[in-house]
Amino acid sequence: MKSKAPLAQGKYYIGLMSGTSADGIDLALVDFSLDQQPRLVASYYQAYSSVIAAKITSLYQPGSNEVDRAFHLDVELAQLFSQAITALLVQENLDPNDIISIGNHGQTIRHRPSGTHAFTLQIGCCQTLATLTGIRVVGQFRRKDMALGGQGAPLVPIFHQQLFSQENDASFVVNIGGIANITFLPKHGASQTVLGFDTGPGNALLNDWYLAHHQGSNTPFDINGAWAATGQVNQALLLQFMQDDYIKLSAPKSTGREYFNIDWLKQQLNDFNSLANSQLSSFLSPADIQATLVAFTAESISHAIKGLAEQGRVYLCGGGVHNAALVDALKQMMNCSSAAYEINTMQALNIDGDILEAMAFAWLGYAFDQRLKSNMPAVTGASASCTLGSEFLP
Ligand SMILES: Nc1ncnc2c1ncn2[C@@H]1O[C@H](COP(=O)(O)OP(=O)(O)OP(=O)(O)O)[C@@H](O)[C@H]1O
Ligand SMILES: [Mg+2]
Repeated sequence: MKSKAPLAQGKYYIGLMSGTSADGIDLALVDFSLDQQPRLVASYYQAYSSVIAAKITSLYQPGSNEVDRAFHLDVELAQLFSQAITALLVQENLDPNDIISIGNHGQTIRHRPSGTHAFTLQIGCCQTLATLTGIRVVGQFRRKDMALGGQGAPLVPIFHQQLFSQENDASFVVNIGGIANITFLPKHGASQTVLGFDTGPGNALLNDWYLAHHQGSNTPFDINGAWAATGQVNQALLLQFMQDDYIKLSAPKSTGREYFNIDWLKQQLNDFNSLANSQLSSFLSPADIQATLVAFTAESISHAIKGLAEQGRVYLCGGGVHNAALVDALKQMMNCSSAAYEINTMQALNIDGDILEAMAFAWLGYAFDQRLKSNMPAVTGASASCTLGSEFLP
């Protein structure tokens, strides 16, 4: 029989997510005391300054003096996480004793899930965070899954399964974050298993190309996809993007910013030119390329969904939901065949899609205390299921 650890004092769990878009810190304050069902009590968001965002993104690829830069930032992010936690507690009139633990995802700066000595690296030091806040921290959730030969990602499908356990139709949760990922949830009672994987790029590649052409912009992204909407999708380039090795790879699979980045795009544009034996891409305006990237993001998600089930309910979440051009493209692609998909945002279920990932990490903190198996070998490819996370005391 499973032995349940006694819960420490406190009422709530906090989930902390700092995603690969490097836009900011999401906090979810969650109560699991009612039949173990997650109840979102409050949320808090703290945007990063452009200086911090640049420090994070500069570590997505190899560069000079990486170790110093990474481990200084490890502590600096923990300080920012701690400030955000304090602000959430003040907002909710709580003190550290009200919190059982913080489930800290941290900030991924490198994810290399395949090959020899595969690894994943999340920074935002758990020990510093515990000491600064006076709250127990559970973190480094991806490591044990990787030690068991898994991708260490995605980790959220098991939480989606909790939320959708009674659905009568096959459902998909599509999180359009820095990288996009999907969870497939078979209908209640079906023999299929829950699956999930990264479909390819999400917002981050769109942000990169937007910023490369809008230096000094007030926002670090293309609001509502307005700039993309001024461009034309180039079908030949879209077709080439869809031939990318990662898109063709079968699951389990996960990817990151070390792969889908500006260098990837430059290589694609070079290949496009040399295949056509001319400077074809120079006929494309930067906005055409942005439009084609939006179409690629939508097409790679649509392709993944269609490969899993011919019909179902699709629930969108993550920052990409606010990009109207992207959502419109996805809706068009999903409904252009005989397949029947109903596409909504998580809001249709009264769930705030911007805070779902942070809620999932609150749940992983809770699962640690309950000694629940919290990875899904069918999703990550790990050789066994296990309880994820390591504990750091104040
Ligand atoms: N109004 C908007 N118009 C266009 N894009 C938007 C808008 N609001 C948010 N976004 C996009 O959403 C991004 C943030 O999304 P999100 O926070 O889900 O990503 P993330 O932090 O990388 O998460 P994940 O961990 O899931 O990768 C922004 O960087 C931006 O690209
Ligand atoms: Mg974010």
